[in-house]
Amino acid sequence: MNASAAQRTPIIAGNWKMNLDHLQAIALVQKLSWGLKDVRHDYGQVEVAVFPPFTDLRSVQTLLAADKLSIVLGAQDVSPHEAGAYTGDVSAQMLAKLEAKYVIVGHSERRHGHGESDETVGLKALAAHRAGLVPMICVGETAEDLDEHGAAAIPLAQLAAAIAPLPADAEIVVAYEPVWAIGSGQAATPEQAQDVARTLRDSLRDLRGDSVADATRILYGGSVSSQNIAGFMRQADVDGALVGGASLKSDEFSRIIQFPKHVTGS
Ligand code: 13P
Repeated sequence: MNASAAQRTPIIAGNWKMNLDHLQAIALVQKLSWGLKDVRHDYGQVEVAVFPPFTDLRSVQTLLAADKLSIVLGAQDVSPHEAGAYTGDVSAQMLAKLEAKYVIVGHSERRHGHGESDETVGLKALAAHRAGLVPMICVGETAEDLDEHGAAAIPLAQLAAAIAPLPADAEIVVAYEPVWAIGSGQAATPEQAQDVARTLRDSLRDLRGDSVADATRILYGGSVSSQNIAGFMRQADVDGALVGGASLKSDEFSRIIQFPKHVTGS
């Protein structure tokens, strides 16, 4: 880790996608928090965030508050609009009221499955920022993009578009998730993740200046597990992971969160 990386608190984030009802959500967060308590997890050293489906958020928030747990709450999506006649949408203000800290914007499953454009992702990031949430901006190339343009071109364009509407000093988190690595069991190599993360940080430096570039956490996502997390976390520009499938099992997610044991123990 270089000096700048050491100043950034890593985040291990669990994107549950469309899994677990609110009762299952409570059970998972309870189990996770007990496991982390047993190993005396230091939440100041590694931030832990969960992104349950909308219907679970209130239940998880209540549990976190009642038990004074340091796990942070996030949502998987947000409306670009503030309020009004938008059937099915959930506003950033509503998420802020539930004490969510983060919201994922631009996940590839929304870009591809719901036709979300770069412009929409930027408007969602802006709506999140205005409500006091931190947008976790997902970027990543498909296998075809990789063949045609290399790894970094699409993520760079997606990041530039997503931050364009935001004020220069807005806090963001970036998650680099190559689409070909999501749910495939075929993670990027640590070196591939580092190359793109460094390029994204260089771009933030150009667009937003040194302090934003140095402070912004850049995560890797795509088939992360307890077996490969250490390799990613050894990289200078990778500040955490956005974990899908492996975040649904409390023991496995807990092992990923405890990556400093694997990294320093190597
Ligand atoms: P997997 O970890 O299941 O590959 O999912 C990654 C992801 O899309 C997280 O947002």
